[in-house]
Amino acid sequence: MRGKRILLVVAGGIAAYKTLEVIRRLRDAGVSVRCILTKAGSQFVTPLSLAALSGEPVYDDLFSLTDETEMGHIRLSREADLVVVAPATADLMAKMAGGHANDLASTALLATNKPVLICPAMNPAMWSHPATRANVALLESRGIYRIGPNPGDMACGEDGLGRLAEPAEILATIAELLADPGQKPLAGRHALVTSGPTHEPIDPVRYIANHSSGKQGHAIAAALAKLGARVTLVSGPVHEPDPPGVTVVRITTAAQMLDACEAALPADLAVCAAAVADWTVDGPALQKMKKTPGGAPPTIALRPNPDILATLSQDSARRPALVVGFAAETERVVDHARDKRTRKGCDWILANDVSANGNQGRGSTFGASENTVHLITEDGAVEDWPTMDKDRLADRLALRLAEHLKGNPIGAAQEGEHPFDCTVLNSEH
Ligand code: C5P
Repeated sequence: MRGKRILLVVAGGIAAYKTLEVIRRLRDAGVSVRCILTKAGSQFVTPLSLAALSGEPVYDDLFSLTDETEMGHIRLSREADLVVVAPATADLMAKMAGGHANDLASTALLATNKPVLICPAMNPAMWSHPATRANVALLESRGIYRIGPNPGDMACGEDGLGRLAEPAEILATIAELLADPGQKPLAGRHALVTSGPTHEPIDPVRYIANHSSGKQGHAIAAALAKLGARVTLVSGPVHEPDPPGVTVVRITTAAQMLDACEAALPADLAVCAAAVADWTVDGPALQKMKKTPGGAPPTIALRPNPDILATLSQDSARRPALVVGFAAETERVVDHARDKRTRKGCDWILANDVSANGNQGRGSTFGASENTVHLITEDGAVEDWPTMDKDRLADRLALRLAEHLKGNPIGAAQEGEHPFDCTVLNSEH
């Protein structure tokens, strides 16, 4: 990161004190930091602290910058390699989502042409409010990066999701975002990710579906892209925003998901996080099925769907070098997941407990922002990962995948080339 420049926007939240530590660590890493302090932010940290730690003047007033002899707000917003907002308050994110420009921070954020990383911190109820959820989704759909918030005790005495990410996590994310594209650990790799549920039509208005939200699969696609991979995300119907820098192929049924995955090959790695329906309706009705008064309910015949994970794992010509599946189980989670890994022929499997009191007693993982998994690797070894935010889990998995692929030649999965020796690869399964 040495020699890179960061514009750090410090908004008004109690977590602003942690931002001081972020500045210190950035300076230690040879990064120059310029700060914009909002009016509310100055209630929590002083301009003097920011100036002393950053070694630069602190900017807090839009109108003192309008004189062309000074640094204009446009220049301020563009001279950085990355803009970081820490803490990002609900109010500042709402302003960003709405395109407001009524103070220096919001104006610089609207004017910048550089990547932006937000580090939200607020009371858990404010974080989960539909207004904040919608603003964050909108910002992410525009390509803004986010880290946190983390779960835990809040300064206000409540407990939940809302703590600013730790300085070390913020620094690691900044390092990933500032890395030169060619030096990112997954540069030159193609990753295929499946996410969300599939919908299997019964008739033109009804379908069979499941509770998958797509949160985990979308987070994995985003994490792989952050590490430099070219990512194709094949997604069933979800409400999640498209992850920044990812090619999203939207499908509805399992058969369409398989077609889209096969069309996306070759890939260096595949992560199948989708909750694919196991069965589809055999011959869905072409017209809406009608209720007849007093009539018997219709019988729906089902037939099995293709297993995408197994198909990719057992593709003798185009198998990705590393194939990862998920196993949602309600009992004997690790045992069942181990069997599944062998049966499907994938390399790794992430097992999670989806029983009502699973996820370490926090209830089902469906739609939740946290997840508890056990990673089972190619030799059957089990790693118990602590409960964590689905975004953090995705980052951790992406780093593990990058580490594993280190030895494989780059460019092996380019269009039309299939140089992996699949016989050798498959002999491991
Ligand atoms: O068999 P089960 O549904 O428990 O397997 C879960 C794993 O298999 C997940 O990784 C899921 O994405 C994948 N899968 C699939 N196609 C199916 C069923 C499951 O890719 N038809």
